[in-house]
Amino acid sequence: MTDFAAIDVDIIEAGLNTRLVGNKILLHKATSSTNDIAWEYASNPDNDGLCIFAEQQHAGRGRRRNKWLSPPGCSILCSILLLDTACAGELLTLTAAVAVTDAISKHLGHKANIKWPNDVFVNGRKVAGLLLESRPGPTAVDYVLGIGVNCHQERDFFETAQLHNPATSLDIETRSTVDRNILACDILNALEHWLDVMQTGPQDIIAKWKANSSLLAHHVVLEHDRRRFAGNCIGIDPARGMIVQLDTGGVRAFQAAHTTILKQSINP
Ligand code: BTN
Repeated sequence: MTDFAAIDVDIIEAGLNTRLVGNKILLHKATSSTNDIAWEYASNPDNDGLCIFAEQQHAGRGRRRNKWLSPPGCSILCSILLLDTACAGELLTLTAAVAVTDAISKHLGHKANIKWPNDVFVNGRKVAGLLLESRPGPTAVDYVLGIGVNCHQERDFFETAQLHNPATSLDIETRSTVDRNILACDILNALEHWLDVMQTGPQDIIAKWKANSSLLAHHVVLEHDRRRFAGNCIGIDPARGMIVQLDTGGVRAFQAAHTTILKQSINP
């Protein structure tokens, strides 16, 4: 595989216009999971906003115990520590998904989609995933937000890796070489912007999610606590999760932590 430009902390820091997100940045050449490293810093309140990058993970993880695979030097692998936050995880995931989708869309030159709750899709293929982990904080909740973006992978990597979703990389989609340092700045700047928006209330986050959602108004089949449900996605609630008009009648909310989308389609 070609040697791509390395993640460079000085370049990222120079491109940030944030107060909190990325106020400290650490880079690991190789580690187990950037989420694990971020948790090691969680006991010190000064580390709020700390961002850990890695070029390679030996034990990268995704939602619902999935592995997150990436060849060395090919992705953005980063985790951000958000300490003692009063915000609900459901809303924080929406906010992060909106931010990462915004940054990716800028590099694509067209709109990427959010597949609720934590995936970013381009042309029907997954290009990025988010993993939000939480622990009790001193007065509220400590979060680590992990972000993985496929940047330089070639098609054959996704063909040989056994993945749950069809996947792609930004280089495949743009037919060029994405600058990971600029994309990293764009992600961290967008995250801070949308976290500020979130402080004013959930309505703008929900509106933006709706504008970018691949599920809204689509028929979905999902698994919730080992039971299957089917229906039309009719909205999102910042606390209760995805709202579905069930085929069997009635409306029900599904929380991200307990739900997996098995299938989605245009309305039947
Ligand atoms: C998913 O799609 O299920 C979420 C994937 C999240 C992957 C990122 S890569 C950086 C951070 N470290 C991890 O171990 N996971 C997240």
